[in-house]
Amino acid sequence: MPDTIELLLKRRSTVAANLKDPGPDAEQLKTLLRIAARVPDHGKLAPWRFIVFQGVARADFGRMLADVTKRNTPEITDERIELEAARFMRAPVIIAVISSSEIHPKIPQWEQVLSAGAVCQNLLVAASAMGYAAQWITEWYAYDEGVRAPLKLTEDEKVAGFIYIGSSDEIPEDRRRPNLDELITYWSD
Ligand SMILES: Cc1cc2nc3c(=O)[nH]c(=O)nc-3n(C[C@H](O)[C@H](O)[C@H](O)COP(=O)(O)O)c2cc1C
Repeated sequence: MPDTIELLLKRRSTVAANLKDPGPDAEQLKTLLRIAARVPDHGKLAPWRFIVFQGVARADFGRMLADVTKRNTPEITDERIELEAARFMRAPVIIAVISSSEIHPKIPQWEQVLSAGAVCQNLLVAASAMGYAAQWITEWYAYDEGVRAPLKLTEDEKVAGFIYIGSSDEIPEDRRRPNLDELITYWSD
């Protein structure tokens, strides 16, 4: 499938601040989530789940981020409050991928976490294939204790990423890529 190879060779993230409407419609969103869930998954545990943010929910989430920031930083500026309140307004659709790994008798937790990473990458690739632009972001709120409760994360859960999805007119230039010669060896005994 030359198109797939081309897409994978060229895919780039678009900085969230440069995303805009339109985002995926309801049907496309369903497809994206189906693709997201089609990742390798040792033990078929589905060790991940999704939280979708769109419409007014994005502003609600932003208000919560602003409140948490105020609690964390008593001497906060108005600019910072505005920045936090507007974070989820950067894209029409944001999908939080939650890694829900657990101690399992056979499947190492590490492998469950890797599967959540694959979910994020599937979302990026699928969004690109649909003609959207996207970015995988964690920023501070993926790790903040005060954000865990509003996201209803259990003790074992972690945010694997917030996948921002929208449209963009710009075609990002390629970035510097690692020198593969330094990273690849061919094993021989
Ligand atoms: C787990 C993870 C978290 C990331 N978090 C951020 C972030 O918070 N802010 C950011 O600017 N880029 C973040 N990135 C990097 C971007 O997703 C992206 O890789 C980068 O912009 C390079 O773009 P590319 O995908 O076109 O190579 C993160 C990447 C990963 C894998």
